[in-house]
Amino acid sequence: MMPRDNMNSLVQRLARQALATFRGHAAAAETKAFLENQSRLRGLLAQVKAADLKIVPRYAESSVTSHSLGPPVTYMHICETDDFSMGVFLLKHGTSIPLHDHPGMYGMLKVLYGKVRISCFDRLDTSPESASGGQQFSPPLLPFQKSSLKASLLRSVGEYTEESPPCVLSPHRDNIHQIEAVDGPTAFLDILAPPYDPDDGRDCHYYKVLQPGSEGADKSAEGQVEQTHVWLMEIPQPNIIPLKLQLRDEDNIDSDTFSGAHLHWGWRATLHL
Ligand SMILES: [Fe+2]
Repeated sequence: MMPRDNMNSLVQRLARQALATFRGHAAAAETKAFLENQSRLRGLLAQVKAADLKIVPRYAESSVTSHSLGPPVTYMHICETDDFSMGVFLLKHGTSIPLHDHPGMYGMLKVLYGKVRISCFDRLDTSPESASGGQQFSPPLLPFQKSSLKASLLRSVGEYTEESPPCVLSPHRDNIHQIEAVDGPTAFLDILAPPYDPDDGRDCHYYKVLQPGSEGADKSAEGQVEQTHVWLMEIPQPNIIPLKLQLRDEDNIDSDTFSGAHLHWGWRATLHL
């Protein structure tokens, strides 16, 4: 029998609310009920701290340590159902999760400690030919590369800390993003709905940004780039496949020592969904 405090833990309530929000792909219609549930989920996620996940932040990571111990990016799996997945990413100082998409998916990200810079892109409904017509790239693209271009809009670049509200994405808004650790190591809780599933059209694709010519940028009155039209070119999965850890409920995770050897599956068994 699960202890009562576990039953009511914030992580438990978060998992239940995620299930209530996304059960049976309820998000597809974006009904009033879905939006209300999504708002509740956002509210719960905003409260989550590293301690709720028994993660001990380590702020004073030296550059020597960051390169000598453990992988640059680690994913700690918490739970996954047909409707959503939840886990924690730990990024070492100066590392990043490269630009990638979440096809047909919703997502929420809450920083637990440290600071991340998130660049968000929208895909534009423009054919590659018309989008890149006349556009020159350096080096010039090969014909097959041109046909794989995706016209996109850089919507925002923002920095998030544990004090920040969750960063939210949907199938059509901010769906493509890059996440960089700035000012030291960082960790964030990630909820995706539905989970990635290549057999159901939800594979993860990686991209690189092809910079537009000067005519491609929308400038504000102050001359700053506000929302920039760019072309994204799909690239093979970068060599940053995160080490996937699975936690026991009793594990206290010190981000200095997350080599993974002593961590095991367990949160799923202790979450009542
Ligand atoms: Fe992502």
